[in-house]
Amino acid sequence: MKKLFIANWKSNKTQEEVEVWMASFKPYIGLEQEVVIAPPYPFLSLVADKTKGRDDISLAVQNLSAYPAGSYTGEICTRNLEELNIKYAILGHSERRRYFKESHQDIANKVDLCLAANIIPIVCIDQDYLEAQAQLINSELLSKCVVAYEPLAAIGTGEIAPVDEVSKVVKEIKSIFGQVPVLYGGSVNPENIVPYLEVTDGVLVGGASLDAKTFANLIQSE
Ligand code: PGA
Repeated sequence: MKKLFIANWKSNKTQEEVEVWMASFKPYIGLEQEVVIAPPYPFLSLVADKTKGRDDISLAVQNLSAYPAGSYTGEICTRNLEELNIKYAILGHSERRRYFKESHQDIANKVDLCLAANIIPIVCIDQDYLEAQAQLINSELLSKCVVAYEPLAAIGTGEIAPVDEVSKVVKEIKSIFGQVPVLYGGSVNPENIVPYLEVTDGVLVGGASLDAKTFANLIQSE
């Protein structure tokens, strides 16, 4: 299984900064690796254009509407993304849950819509609501998800979770979801990534993905 390296830019960057990032991101990406870029919505086409023809780099959205196409002003649904070649959608990031009050049920609805549009959901989860979240996802869809274990205390704080704890939770997630890819996210950087890659199927990276060279180093730390 390829290791996933996901760059979650959150709501950072201008168009010019995206162009600079794309121009300076030139790492060797091995056959066993897949890089996924999750830019803010307005830059999806630009990133898609710059990565055209590369099957080692895929595109993700950072969120999706919990509703289908229709009268939902301000929302972006799977239909709006057709032809953009979006492979993944990050769903239920802790920032969405915390600041935008997304519920476990919202995330479960998004998983349905996402898979119906052939987009792979990356469901973000912390340990205390792992079971509650999984219970609301259609049981036939659990094994089609990627799961990111993102302990709240580790996100953007520099306080990485202990590797043995991550390893334990990864096993717990696989016992619930099936043999799905499980990622770790929370203060990953080129200096600390190596042991996490040994116990997971990849990483979801926020802060250390904003600079192209740092993110390239991180991929090559394996
Ligand atoms: P961080 O963010 O790498 O900046 O801690 C991770 C995330 O929010 O997914």
